[in-house]
Amino acid sequence: MTENPKQTEAALIDGKAIAQQVLDEVTQEVCQLTAAGQAQPCLAVVLVGEDPASQVYVRNKLLKCQQAGIQSREHRLAVQSTESDLLGLLETLNRDPQVHGILVQLPLPKHIDEQKVIQAIAPEKDVDGFHPVNMGRLMAGAPDRLVPCTPLGCLIMLRHTLGERLSGKHVVVVGRSNIVGKPAALLALEQHCTVSVVHSRTENIEALCRQADILIVAVGRPELVRADWVKPGAVVLDVGINRVERDGKPRLVGDVAFDEVAAVASAITPVPGGVGPMTIACLLRNTLQAYRQQQG
Ligand code: GUN
Repeated sequence: MTENPKQTEAALIDGKAIAQQVLDEVTQEVCQLTAAGQAQPCLAVVLVGEDPASQVYVRNKLLKCQQAGIQSREHRLAVQSTESDLLGLLETLNRDPQVHGILVQLPLPKHIDEQKVIQAIAPEKDVDGFHPVNMGRLMAGAPDRLVPCTPLGCLIMLRHTLGERLSGKHVVVVGRSNIVGKPAALLALEQHCTVSVVHSRTENIEALCRQADILIVAVGRPELVRADWVKPGAVVLDVGINRVERDGKPRLVGDVAFDEVAAVASAITPVPGGVGPMTIACLLRNTLQAYRQQQG
């Protein structure tokens, strides 16, 4: 945590700095492996089509791999590629012993069934942690699971901010997606938190959020969470990245109204520079974990 330059009450949870620590740990371990003559970990990233935001995310992932000494392979398929083209590529990558992690950038074009694609990735190479086998292992508390990167990043930030004080806290997760909300809730439960999951159909959502010691917000609705949703002293993690227009200019805002919530919370993640950098760092961490598990 660093002091908030805006003179608000909450401390800023510095996602960039915590992500750099994770990246440094990964880089150091990869360096030791390769110095000992072992194979380099390798991540295959698959992008279908030309969605501009996805292209930026993929470029950043490949760049971070390079910086950490992880080999990466980029596979670009045209937007009109068929589902079986993609499934064929995944079969090849699943069988390739030099590829340790596979990531298919989402969203996929509408004519491709996302669940079918996720289930076609070998669970041991599923660095996104979206395969039902990994979701099941997370549910069961199995040690060899791969955990989705964004909620894993949230958990690391919470451990960094609260340490052992995480135990027993009431975590309210806003949003119930397979990518963030559900796995975030399971990870918090594993840390001995009391967990509530609220969503678009929840009655009296503000009152439930106000009970949270820790609020994790992942709904994709710009500045949904206002100051009167937050208990004084709560820790707030904002997973949202929403492109909006303010005073005629494009801006990125989270799912939390930052300025007013920062006046109430004890600690808060900024957008950008909060949860975002943690997601990529955790992708590299997962790639290294997948590699280790495959090397036995
Ligand atoms: N698109 C947006 N977030 C993600 C993510 O975490 N993984 C993948 N594969 N695609 C995404």
